[in-house]
Amino acid sequence: MKTIIEPFKIKSVEPIRFTTLEERIKILHDAHYNPFLIHAEDVLIDLLTDSGTSAMSAKQWAGMMEGDESYAGARSFFRFEKAVQDLTGMKNIIPTHQGRAAEKILFTIIGGAGKYIPNNTHFDTTRANVEFSGAVAVDFQTEEGKRPDVIAPFKGNMNVAALEKFIQETGAENIPVCFITVTNNSGGGQPVSMQNIRETKSVLNKYGIPLFIDACRFAENAFFIKKREKGYDNKTPKEIAQEMFSYADGVTMSAKKDAIVNMGGFLALNNDSLATQARNLLIVTEGFPTYGGLAGRDLEAIAQGLEEVLDEHYLTYRLRSVEYLGNKLTEIGIPILQPPGGHAIYIDAKSFLPHIAPHEYPGQSVVCELYKIGGIRSVEIGSVMFGKYDEKGNIVSPPMELVRLAIPRRVYTQSHIDYVIECSIELHSNRKSLTGYAITYEAPQLRHFTAQFKPLA
Ligand code: F0G
Repeated sequence: MKTIIEPFKIKSVEPIRFTTLEERIKILHDAHYNPFLIHAEDVLIDLLTDSGTSAMSAKQWAGMMEGDESYAGARSFFRFEKAVQDLTGMKNIIPTHQGRAAEKILFTIIGGAGKYIPNNTHFDTTRANVEFSGAVAVDFQTEEGKRPDVIAPFKGNMNVAALEKFIQETGAENIPVCFITVTNNSGGGQPVSMQNIRETKSVLNKYGIPLFIDACRFAENAFFIKKREKGYDNKTPKEIAQEMFSYADGVTMSAKKDAIVNMGGFLALNNDSLATQARNLLIVTEGFPTYGGLAGRDLEAIAQGLEEVLDEHYLTYRLRSVEYLGNKLTEIGIPILQPPGGHAIYIDAKSFLPHIAPHEYPGQSVVCELYKIGGIRSVEIGSVMFGKYDEKGNIVSPPMELVRLAIPRRVYTQSHIDYVIECSIELHSNRKSLTGYAITYEAPQLRHFTAQFKPLA
C-alpha cells in the first residue's frame, strides 16, 4: 500500500515563527505556564484545538466572495439551509455564530430547574449551558470508554442500559431531551456506532424522549462507522451520516469542526413549535433567522465545507494522520488514550508521569515541556480543567489526567507531525526530571483558561 498523502496542494501559505529555547523559557514564564496565555505568534505548531483552526479550500474562499449579505432572505442562507437539510433531514435550520449559541438557545427553552439532560459525554460548554439553565447534565459513558488502555472500536458509545435505568428512576417527564455527541470529544474523540445510536433511539422511543445529536465531528464518526461497523463498508460517508441523523429529532453543530470553517454553527429541529421558540430567541440574541450570528459569506463557506468534509480521500487522510501521530507516540513509549480518536491524540499523563500526583497536575507538566522543547501548544484535560475542591479545600481530581494534541483540519503536513514526534522523543527522555505545578491564581469558574501556575522545585 502507498503512503496516504494530504489530498490537496497548497495555494496560500502562512509563515510560522521559530523561537529559541531561551525565548520559550521566558515566554512560558511570562504566560504563567498556561498555554492559553501564550501569544499564538510564539507558537510553532498549535495543537490547542481543532475548532475554528482549519484551512478553508479555494472553493470555500470563492464562496466567501459569493456571499449574499442581505439582511433578510439572503441567497446564501438558502444554500446553507439546503445543504444542512440534505445532510440531516431536519425541517428547521437555524444558523448560530457557533455551537454553544445553539446550545444556549435550546437549553433556555427546554432546560431549567428539575430537568435532567443525559449525554454519552457532555462537552464542557454543553454541560455549562445545561447547568446555566438550572438543569442537571448526566454522562453515560460505557465502562470500556472510561479505560484509556482498552482498544475497542466504539469507545464513544452511550451506556444504553444505564441510560434506561436512569430514565426509570428520574421519570421521563423530567428528561426533555437526550443527547449523543459524535465523536465523543471529552471521551477521547472516540466514535459512536450506528447500532448504539439505534439502540439509544429505541429506548428513548419507549419513553417518548427526543434524541438530539451534537454533530461537531459527524463526518469523522461516519467514517469510523464505515471502517469498523459491519454492513457499512459499501456505503458512502454521506449515506452513513444521513442514517445517523435519521434517528435524531434535532441537531446542534459547531461548524468550526466538521464544516471546516473558522466560525459558525447551527441548530436543526424537526419540531415546528420548538423551532418557532428558538427563532424568537435567536432574534434577541443572535440575529434574524436567515443569518443568525453569521455573515452571508460564512453561510456559503459552511455549505461548501459540509460537502468537502464527506470526501473519502479527505476522511482517509484525516483519520490516518491522527492515527499516525498516535502510533508513533505509542512506539516511543508515551501512553495515549487508545485507540487514536478522530481529531486528537490524548496523552495519558497519569501513567506517563507516575511520580507527579494528580493534585500537582502531571498534564500541565507535559504541556509546558512540549512547549519548551519545540514550541508545540497542547492543552491539559485533567485536574486543571475539571478539578473541584471538597469542603476541606482538597482538590478532587477527575478519573483521567490527559493532554490533548488536537489536529487542525488541512493545516499541518506530515513533516510538521514528524517534528512533533521528534519533540515527543525528547519529552520521553526527559520524563523522570519533570516536576509538578502549583496554581497561584484561579478564577471561580472554568479556571483552566486564565489560571496561573508555578513549577514545583
Ligand atoms: N460540542 C462539542 C462536542 C465540542 O467539541 C464543542 C467545542 C462544542 C460543542 C461547542 O462548540 O466551540 O463552536 O461553541 N469544542 C472545542 C474544542 C472548543 O476545543 O474541543 P463551539
